[in-house]
Amino acid sequence: MIYLNNMLVPDNKAVVSVFDHGFLYGDGVYETLRAYDGVLFKLNEHIERLFNSASLIKLKLPKTREEIRKAAYETLQANRLKEAYVRITVSRGAGPIGLDPRLCPQPTLVIIANPFKDYPPSYYKKGVKVAIVKTRRNFKRAIDPQIKSLNFLNNVLAKTEAINRGAYEAVMLNYRGYVAEGTISNIFFVKDKVLCTPSVEVGILDGITRRIILDVAKEMGVKVKEGRFRPDEIYEADEVFISNTTMEVMPVKEVDNAMFNVSGGDITKVIHKAYRTKVREYMRGKDR
Ligand code: PDD
Repeated sequence: MIYLNNMLVPDNKAVVSVFDHGFLYGDGVYETLRAYDGVLFKLNEHIERLFNSASLIKLKLPKTREEIRKAAYETLQANRLKEAYVRITVSRGAGPIGLDPRLCPQPTLVIIANPFKDYPPSYYKKGVKVAIVKTRRNFKRAIDPQIKSLNFLNNVLAKTEAINRGAYEAVMLNYRGYVAEGTISNIFFVKDKVLCTPSVEVGILDGITRRIILDVAKEMGVKVKEGRFRPDEIYEADEVFISNTTMEVMPVKEVDNAMFNVSGGDITKVIHKAYRTKVREYMRGKDR
């Protein structure tokens, strides 16, 4: 079942107009969430970011925060899912052809809940390969990466480069050549026991997983550095990992031609373990 606007409908009935500006122009925003044992992890943070993305594109959401929270749980439960991938999409809605957002009186809301598909265990044991690609991350003053928008062509182009180079994820630099982020993930590296990650000012999405990782690192006494980094600093790192809501903390074994010893990736492992503890605490109702 899919949540469409105001109700749950079977997926073959869940259709959106060809005049929807989400389809015509990529005009809209979305969030990806993960449910663990029937609990939508960090739901409030995702809803808050959805509202922030919407406000950055001057889109007024058709529902309140509470109504969207409720609709997300209804979708999860209608599909009898405990371990799930949930996507909340809000587009500008259907309207005549033309860029003017005022053409679309009613935004479209879609919530999809699918069974969570585990990543192959080898990704965590052996690590994944990433490539620093030529496609640059959107310039902040063109499309701010803080907007989690349906306009994903920047990321699709980067991903295509990664695929052509046999890599799992692409890492984009910002327009000035500083390391920014992956196509659907944030990037971290460890150098001399310091956990480093590009700061939000570089022009990245303020990942919810990223925030948790920074918090757990600080709680554990790991030194953290958010800043501007050049690709060379990644190549020379001791450990590298990527993060997002679905993958959590995923070790990287190779960046371009630089190799990393994932089995020795101590800080990556400790951080992933601490992240998992946060998930369990959240599920027990603490921290909600
Ligand atoms: N992507 N950077 C980008 C460009 C992203 O699209 C994402 C998330 C992240 C990580 O954010 P978070 O930790 O809040 O998931 C960073 C989701 C998973 C997606 O596009 O489906």
